Amino acid sequence: MNKKIVAVDGPAGAGKSTVSKIVAQKLGYTYIDTGAMYRAVAYKVLRQGKPVTEQLITDIVRDIDIDLQYVDGVTKVFVDGEEITGEIRTPEVSSIASKVATIGFVREKLTELQRKMATRGGVIMDGRDIATHVLPNADVKIFLTASIEERARRRYDELKAKGYDINLDEVAKEIALRDKQDTEREIAPLIKAEDAVLLDTTNKTIDEVVDDILNLCRK
Ligand code: CDP
Repeated sequence: MNKKIVAVDGPAGAGKSTVSKIVAQKLGYTYIDTGAMYRAVAYKVLRQGKPVTEQLITDIVRDIDIDLQYVDGVTKVFVDGEEITGEIRTPEVSSIASKVATIGFVREKLTELQRKMATRGGVIMDGRDIATHVLPNADVKIFLTASIEERARRRYDELKAKGYDINLDEVAKEIALRDKQDTEREIAPLIKAEDAVLLDTTNKTIDEVVDDILNLCRK
């Protein structure tokens, strides 16, 4: 099977990163988590401890150095040489990530980086605008989704397991707000590409979704 470019888009909690990592391992591909890049920008913005304005975000992204290293099935995230992998999954970072993602300058800079990362093929990239904007010529395009209740429950379980003191309602609200911000923004909003295959994962196991994607890659 030749080295393909696989694009996976969808809302928070649909399971994109979980299944993309497994598919990458099975195919010997590199997994590129573009959300981690928006999160890295958000993390650096938050660390300034200043009011989060468009000006501050633009200044930060102008000379930020983001690096993703995918080693043994784990994506390590570095900002300006410092590893921040464990710091970027908090609800606070999620919410600011969705805000920085509305800014054109941020998207242009990250899109350029993402395209460079995919040039050699043999990659599975997940995000919100991969099939529609970043890699419109991807060989396989998947739009992963699930009901909001199921997505909130998955994210709640994930955060609980990491020791966060949160409740399901708060998580559901945060996800609903991010869905709104991501689908309604003007630049590269979250939308299914016309030629993407829709996979609803609400009642599917991880293995079933992985098999569906592997079958699409084999075509
Ligand atoms: O893991 P989860 O689905 O919760 O989020 P993520 O993929 O880490 O992305 C965090 C935020 O970055 C999203 O809510 C989007 O606002 C933004 N994002 C984006 O705009 N475009 C992408 N290609 C990836 C993420």
